[in-house]
Amino acid sequence: MLKTYRAVQFTEYGGPDVLEVVRREVPRPGHGQVLVEVRAAGVNPLDWQLRSGAVAAMMPVEFPAVPGGDVAGVVVDVGEDVTGFAAGDEVFGSIGSGGYAEFALAPAAQIARRPANVPWEVAAGLPVAVSTAYQALDDLGVKAGETLVVDGAAGGVGSVAVQIARQLGATVIGTASERNHAYLRSLGAEPVTYGEGLAERIRALAPNGADAAFDTAGKGSLPALVDVTGGPERVVTIADHRAEEHGVRFVFAGAGAVRERLERAAALVVDGALTLSVARTYALSQAADAHRESEGGHVRGKLIIVPDRRGYGCPGSV
Ligand SMILES: NC(=O)c1ccc[n+]([C@@H]2O[C@H](COP(=O)([O-])OP(=O)(O)OC[C@H]3O[C@@H](n4cnc5c(N)ncnc54)[C@H](OP(=O)(O)O)[C@@H]3O)[C@@H](O)[C@H]2O)c1
Repeated sequence: MLKTYRAVQFTEYGGPDVLEVVRREVPRPGHGQVLVEVRAAGVNPLDWQLRSGAVAAMMPVEFPAVPGGDVAGVVVDVGEDVTGFAAGDEVFGSIGSGGYAEFALAPAAQIARRPANVPWEVAAGLPVAVSTAYQALDDLGVKAGETLVVDGAAGGVGSVAVQIARQLGATVIGTASERNHAYLRSLGAEPVTYGEGLAERIRALAPNGADAAFDTAGKGSLPALVDVTGGPERVVTIADHRAEEHGVRFVFAGAGAVRERLERAAALVVDGALTLSVARTYALSQAADAHRESEGGHVRGKLIIVPDRRGYGCPGSV
C-alpha cells in the first residue's frame, strides 16, 4: 500500500486560502478505527466555521487540521479490536474530521455499509445531514398527519429533513428563495419564501398554523416559527444561537444511533424515497473554492470533494 497520501490541511485559522494540499503518512487504524480510502467527502458549513476560527471558543482545532466530517470510501485496514468490517468493504459515515484526503481514519461505530447503487458522492453527502435531520425530527416528535415547517429546506440538512418528514406522513412547508421553489416541490414540500412576512405566508398555506417547525438556517426566523406553531415547545433550531431568548431548543446531531440512521437513510435512497442533490464536486486542490461556495450560503443540497478525479463511478466528477 502507499506510504503517503494527499490531504487538505490548515495550520492556522483564516480564510479559504489557508487550505493547502500536503502529503501525510498513511496511519494505522487504532482502537475502534478503520482506515478508509476516500472516494468522496461531504462539505458541511461546520468545516469552514472550524477553519475560520468562528467556533474556536466552543470547538478549538488542533493544528495541523484536515477538514471533513463526512466520507464514503473503501475500508483498507482495520484496528485490532474492530469486528464487523474488513478490507474491501464499501462504507460511508461520520468521522469528525480528516475527510478531505485520499485516506481517512473512521470510528467503526459511526460508519455503515454503502449499498452498491448509492453513488459515492451521495453516500458522502448523507452522514451529517441525515443524523441532524433525524435528531431534530425525533426531538420534535413529528407524526403522520401533522404540518411541519422546515426553514432552509433547500440546504443539506433541510432537504433531507423535508423528505424524511414526508416519509413519516407529515405535510411539509419549506422555505427557500424562489429559484428553489420547484426543487422543494420535487422533494414533496410546499414552498414559501423566507424573510419579512414569513408567518403570513405560512398561514396562507396552513390557516390553522403549523404543528412543528425546524429552523436549519439560523437567519432570524424563530419569532415567525414560534408564532405559527403557537409557542416555542415544538420549534427547534440547529443554527440560531439566540434560541434560548425565544425559548427554543438548540439541537445537535446526536452521536448516538448514527449507524442505524445511516442505514435507514441509505435504504430510503435505494427505494427512491430520499434523493440528495449534489450541487458540485471539487478536487482536493479546489477545497478553498468549495468553502467559498458553502460560505455563500445558497448551496442546493451538497458540495462534495472527490480526491481522485479519475473517477470511481462518480459520474459528476470532471
Ligand atoms: N447543530 C448541529 O448539530 C448542526 C448540524 C448540521 C448543520 N448545522 C448548521 O446548520 C446550518 C445549515 O446546515 P446545512 O448543511 O443545511 O447548510 P447548507 O446546505 O449550506 O444550507 C444552504 C441553504 O440555506 C438556505 N438559506 C440561505 N439563507 C436562508 C434564509 N435566510 N432563510 C432560510 N434559508 C436560507 C439556502 O436556500 P436559498 O439558496 O434558496 O437561499 C440554501 O439552500 C449551518 O449553519 C450548519 O453549521 C448544525
